[in-house]
Amino acid sequence: MSDKTVPPNRKSPLDLLRPTVRDMPGYTPGEQLADLVKLNTNEGAFGPSPQVMAALAAIGDESLRLYPDPSSGKLRAAAAARYGVAPEQVLAGNGSDDCLTILYRAFLDGGQRVACPWPTYGLYETLAVLQGAQLVRLPFQQIGRRFELPPDLTKKRAKMIILANPNNPSSTLIPVDELRRVCDQAAKSVVVVDEAYVDFALGAGVDASLLPYLDQHPNLVVLRTFSKSYSLAGARLGLLFASAPVVEALMKVKDSYNVNAITQALGVAALGDRAYHEDCVRRTLDERTHLEAAIGELGLTWPEAAANFLLVEIGERAEEIYRTLKQEGLLVRWWRAPELRTKIRISVGKPEDNARLIAALKKLF
Ligand SMILES: Cc1ncc(COP(=O)(O)O)c(C=O)c1O
Repeated sequence: MSDKTVPPNRKSPLDLLRPTVRDMPGYTPGEQLADLVKLNTNEGAFGPSPQVMAALAAIGDESLRLYPDPSSGKLRAAAAARYGVAPEQVLAGNGSDDCLTILYRAFLDGGQRVACPWPTYGLYETLAVLQGAQLVRLPFQQIGRRFELPPDLTKKRAKMIILANPNNPSSTLIPVDELRRVCDQAAKSVVVVDEAYVDFALGAGVDASLLPYLDQHPNLVVLRTFSKSYSLAGARLGLLFASAPVVEALMKVKDSYNVNAITQALGVAALGDRAYHEDCVRRTLDERTHLEAAIGELGLTWPEAAANFLLVEIGERAEEIYRTLKQEGLLVRWWRAPELRTKIRISVGKPEDNARLIAALKKLF
């Protein structure tokens, strides 16, 4: 990294960066190109609830003039009522990414270990690097169309074990009783289960969440987001669930006003419209079924999906397919990393977007 704004005889502020920050590549978010059909970052396919839009329209100027409630009280109360926990067991974040940052900052000192099955959500690694912690990546065991937990996940003396369930980018699901076993076996670690996509598994009738077991595992932390099934990625809202003492400790780490007033109000409204939420999930699952049927007809394969996306095996042509689709206005996700470079991840979109994608894929295969 060089700084051409600084004369040759002067020191650049870049030289003062912490070496970890200077040398790290940084997290690469999915492309956000509004004029393309976006099937690359797993947002909800349908719009937010009409009740959320009404809450947005009702935001008064005082909500903007004043600081927001630092602890997101009304939102925590609404989330607690919705999910059957105490408000003291809930912490709200500026997206679940913020909840992840809070967890890493709270639990991991330099050199300490955080273990996760791999491949998974890339931010888990970026945050470890920033914290000077050591990420222990353990490959999922792929058995047919299933991804199973690495057998040594709890044996790495990691202070924190983190996993997404359903997992991103594979869309695969680990059964709840296996994750409860992880909590028991790793009694000296914090176990973070990131349930960003769990509503799609629950919507399919699978008992996929660890939230009902929160009180039975003091080392368990569960994360949820409003970016996917609630279609509020732009508002940035995530929830963290843990024991009350853990939440109290994490409150010390978060930014004072980490969730803005508008987002707090939208979150309450979103939680209040359960029927709309369930309908969006059901429509998404119907669309996923159509997409799977069409992709299957092309002879392509993908792991058993529990979320609103598919990780499709393409082979050596994956990058070319990703680029061709992009030229046609369809954005899917492709990674250069060796473990993912033969695959593309396709988010389930609106019916018309999925139809366009299927038509484009039919021309390519
Ligand atoms: C597994 C997982 N966790 C967390 C996030 C981040 O969600 P948020 O928008 O709430 O920060 C994502 C986003 O793609 C994700 O895939």
